[in-house]
Amino acid sequence: MKILGIETSCDDTSVALLDEHEGVLENLVSSQIDLHDHFGGVVPELASRAHLVNLLPLIDVLLTRRSLNLADIDGVAVTRGPGLIGALLVGLSTAKAICWAAGKPLAAVHHIEGHMLANELTAPMELPAAVLVVSGGHTEVILVREIGLYERLGWTLDDAAGECYDKCAQFMGLPYPGGPAVDRVAEGGDPGRFTFPRPLHKDPRVIFSFSGLKTAVRLEVERLPRPLSEQDVADVCHALREAVTDVLTRRLFQAAQEQGVRAVYLAGGVAANSLLRTRTAELATKRGLHFVAPDRAYCTDNAAMIAQAGLCRFRVGYRDDLSVDSFARQPVTSWLPLP
Ligand SMILES: Nc1ncnc2c1ncn2[C@@H]1O[C@H](COP(=O)(O)OP(=O)(O)OP(=O)(O)O)[C@@H](O)[C@H]1O
Ligand SMILES: [Mg+2]
Repeated sequence: MKILGIETSCDDTSVALLDEHEGVLENLVSSQIDLHDHFGGVVPELASRAHLVNLLPLIDVLLTRRSLNLADIDGVAVTRGPGLIGALLVGLSTAKAICWAAGKPLAAVHHIEGHMLANELTAPMELPAAVLVVSGGHTEVILVREIGLYERLGWTLDDAAGECYDKCAQFMGLPYPGGPAVDRVAEGGDPGRFTFPRPLHKDPRVIFSFSGLKTAVRLEVERLPRPLSEQDVADVCHALREAVTDVLTRRLFQAAQEQGVRAVYLAGGVAANSLLRTRTAELATKRGLHFVAPDRAYCTDNAAMIAQAGLCRFRVGYRDDLSVDSFARQPVTSWLPLP
């Protein structure tokens, strides 16, 4: 089976070709970072227009590179939501048109399910598992009982971890998106200089909050003499990364213990963070839990993970109707019937 994946939920136009046996054959990402950089964040209408311009030529490049045409594809998987509604509609309409014209089945995938199933691109996931989803818009722990059967165990009361990294990076004049910059700069930081709070650390629930941490970083940065030295920025980034990683890993392993699962996974853009990956690996080893870090290329938005989610559905005969709608917000939903 060959699946065409399409992802247009935010500011990256991505298309992928996934073969059931050979894995990811193509994963093309047309980034809009330069377009939005000037505004310090994603401008929804510009994102939709850029998807409209880029999507069909990108699919064309993918098919040409593999000497394929639409008749050679066995199904189309597309992100249905959550995300920017105008951006999602470009991808969903395109996917529907292809399915209708070429007579192919459609899988309309929840973006967060795609992020989680990026782990399946490495190896079949050991399930049930607790998955920490950490991205630009989400910070959640999800129990994956089996593929298609999900339960949200915890979430953030305010900002997402990626949003916190991006905003803090902005205070320090680092480039957008800030997460990768903070991660890089943190390596040269002095571990003893700053300590930031671990929000809600006394709360017994699997719950996150990052807005207080963001404010603590802003206040610390404002106290420093201008212009900020490279060492100042590195020291703040080091302490920020420690605080974020500490709260994320603590809640992931708490959830794993409460649910009695033997495997944990990371998903979403922040799963590319070096400290989060190494710390999770260390803690999993200590507790005798299974953990394999997802491939960094499939952590941030990409269509390969959406194609993988589609493949999982098509394998069990699941397909969506061409009347399927998109949504801007909605928790991840199960699509398998409950046992
Ligand atoms: N190495 C890294 N360390 C920390 N954060 C990172 C790293 N690489 C990427 N990020 C962060 O990941 C986020 C982007 O992830 P992703 O593409 O999954 O988010 P999104 O699609 O915008 O949000 P969502 O998936 O919630 O809809 C950004 O906030 C970015 O700063
Ligand atoms: Mg995403």
